[in-house]
Amino acid sequence: MPSPTSSLYSPPSTTRIAARDYTRDLDVTDLELRALLDLAADMKRSPRRYSSALQGRYLALLFEKPSLRTRVTFELAIKQLGGDSVLSSGLIGEREPIKDIARNLDRWTDGIVARVFSHRTILDLAEWSSVPVVNALCDKYHPCQALADMLTIREHLDHWDGRTLAYIGDGNNVAHSLMSSAARLSMNFRLACPDGYEPDSTLVEEARVIAGKNGVTLEITQDPIEAASGADAIYTDVWASMGQEAQALDRRAIFQPYQVNEALMAKARSSAIFMHCLPAKRNQETTDGVMESAQSVVFDQAENRLHTQKALLLMMLGG
Ligand code: CP
Ligand code: NVA
Repeated sequence: MPSPTSSLYSPPSTTRIAARDYTRDLDVTDLELRALLDLAADMKRSPRRYSSALQGRYLALLFEKPSLRTRVTFELAIKQLGGDSVLSSGLIGEREPIKDIARNLDRWTDGIVARVFSHRTILDLAEWSSVPVVNALCDKYHPCQALADMLTIREHLDHWDGRTLAYIGDGNNVAHSLMSSAARLSMNFRLACPDGYEPDSTLVEEARVIAGKNGVTLEITQDPIEAASGADAIYTDVWASMGQEAQALDRRAIFQPYQVNEALMAKARSSAIFMHCLPAKRNQETTDGVMESAQSVVFDQAENRLHTQKALLLMMLGG
């Protein structure tokens, strides 16, 4: 363990992330994922112990899309570890190719955190830079969100093993990351969505193999009640993600039966928690009442973005 006076904290070798980049959830091994979540819990308990762990390290934050939580928590995460960040927002690749952007940032920084439209952009940044690249949301994944969500689940439900997480809504980036993380941590996962809005079938199969190995299930249904019944956690996200604004009105009609309201929450266990990555559109994918209920842990999820990203940065850049 680091001493409070040590200037640079070197995590034990078992907790270093072997992969150079965090482009998707599966870039960290099961062991690394568990170590990361344990480290995040320790950082949450004892933040000062890590206050100079990444002294002199600098991150570039690139945002092609809006953000509150991700941007603020990454900026604070690196600062609270003794480092700093610079922010650039705007369309990546508009003025110059991504491979050139990557090779510039590579010369100045110790890591790149990027929120982009296309997963391809994350892969290109990773390919053309030697510093670690972190996916801060793309069209396919939101792996940093899943880290915070898994920590939140353990805090509220005590453990992951055999718990059931029900995701009601669009089979989107958040759903993809949750699906594989749940399977890896031995949670049953159910997803209910309208016909045509299922998660990517390749990613479902990939997660199902992991679930099978861990003795848990991954079910996709069109019936929100079936998914919610007896669940330990109910999760939803916006019906139209960033970049899908033109479809928002059509989607409202299609997704209305999938609203997480008081009646649907009543199908889950009485101890069930309500989760949402935020931002939420109140009285669309969930009701104001559910958001404000005692079952809602949405702000714990938001808080845990900070702690889990500190752990991620330390495990990627530390030592
Ligand atoms: N949950 C999340 O990623 O929030 P932001 O879009 O505000 O970063
Ligand atoms: N699925 C949402 C998540 C926002 C944090 C989106 O991509 O806009």
